[in-house]
Amino acid sequence: MASVIVVGAQWGDEGKGKVVDLLTRYADYVVRFQGGNNAGHTLVVDGKQYIFHIIPSGILYEDKICAIGNGVVIDPQVLIDELDHLAEKGMVVSPERLLISTNAHLIMPYHRQLDLAREGVLEADQKIGTTGRGIGPCYMDKVGRTGLRMGDLLDMPLFREKLAASLEEKNFLLTQLYRQKPFDAAAIVAEFEPLAERLAPFIGTVSVALDEARKAGKHILFEGAQGTQLDVDHGTYPFVTSSNTTAANACTGTGFSPVHIDEVIGIIKAYTTRVGSGPFPTELSEEDAIGQHLQTKGHEFGATTGRRRRCGWFDAVVATDAVRLNGLTGLAVTKLDVLSGLNEVQMATHYQVEGRRFDRMPENIRQATLAQPVYERMPGWSEDIAGVRSYNDLPQATRDYLHRLEDLSGVAPVIVSVGPEREATMLLRNPFAPR
Ligand code: IMP
Repeated sequence: MASVIVVGAQWGDEGKGKVVDLLTRYADYVVRFQGGNNAGHTLVVDGKQYIFHIIPSGILYEDKICAIGNGVVIDPQVLIDELDHLAEKGMVVSPERLLISTNAHLIMPYHRQLDLAREGVLEADQKIGTTGRGIGPCYMDKVGRTGLRMGDLLDMPLFREKLAASLEEKNFLLTQLYRQKPFDAAAIVAEFEPLAERLAPFIGTVSVALDEARKAGKHILFEGAQGTQLDVDHGTYPFVTSSNTTAANACTGTGFSPVHIDEVIGIIKAYTTRVGSGPFPTELSEEDAIGQHLQTKGHEFGATTGRRRRCGWFDAVVATDAVRLNGLTGLAVTKLDVLSGLNEVQMATHYQVEGRRFDRMPENIRQATLAQPVYERMPGWSEDIAGVRSYNDLPQATRDYLHRLEDLSGVAPVIVSVGPEREATMLLRNPFAPR
């Protein structure tokens, strides 16, 4: 029995989908604990393409049980669309295989509207660049204790009552502050009634199910979304998402005790990317030849929004922050093949900010924006490594790069990925195996 958490170590888009898919093979349960349909990944299995935003991709394995914890925010229509999308491809998901926490909050239509309205009125340099999915406003209601939860779908009179109370405030904001149309409670209820009926069989107590699974000796994989630097407390605030993306939230976001966690794997790209606004010290400009190389070769466009990702060199400051904040026991290094063909590769070892050395991301956003990376240069490699399946077959320069990455971060890779295909992944140590 082992419980393993997987988190993004940078600003999201580290290739979690592929690593989670690999580790899912060893797990019995796959659980999401935070975020919502701001996340997304695409998997191609047996020639069929599947896009996931909310349901763990582990659902593709008939013998796995998937759960969506209380820390996740759920747009019920998106969830149903995803179930329908799976059904169209021949995968009908039964309630025995998908459990949704009764305490997970519902993303309501006004959350999406408020997300867009808030971003719309911000000055260009203040915009967060959110995904527009209503994530922030939904978490605001959760913390403000005015949110509607999955469990409320099982009690429509209560749902109506809570909705009416919430709409009073939301409609005031929408009409008076943002000059938009108000929402009609009856229309929302009419929209939600069939969704409630459809989702009711899936709603339950995730904490109890996971505890029983653990006691029965099952392997549990906790799948994080976004990345460490997007954590609402520890990331580059305010240019972050609205949830805790770090490992501790795997416990809070599901009701699973930290005492039972065995490993925390950080997924880290061999270089760095970021979508949306905010500090990114090792960013290369769009005109820079290396930046263009990473963008093009790495296909750096978001799965959820299709936005161009900003690209830059590997940043050991970000890596060591992730090691500390998550307690990483292993790294999954992804997209190493994208660096092939560069004469020289660089890694930032620390920053200089106004004459001071920083070995961690400055908490002050002004300082984080001013951070100047200090680079170490290494020889690159010209070989195409996408076909390599054994660590020792990697070119010496590639292995030197990985060694340096391990030295600087203090954590060894357990997975190295060299291409988009399922097979293009080397599992150096299985985190589910006893140590
Ligand atoms: P929100 O999560 O939609 O509120 O967006 C807040 C910030 O997090 C924006 O900069 C987004 O681009 C970023 N973000 C949200 N989800 C993801 C993700 O899955 N990958 C990368 N960035 C994300």
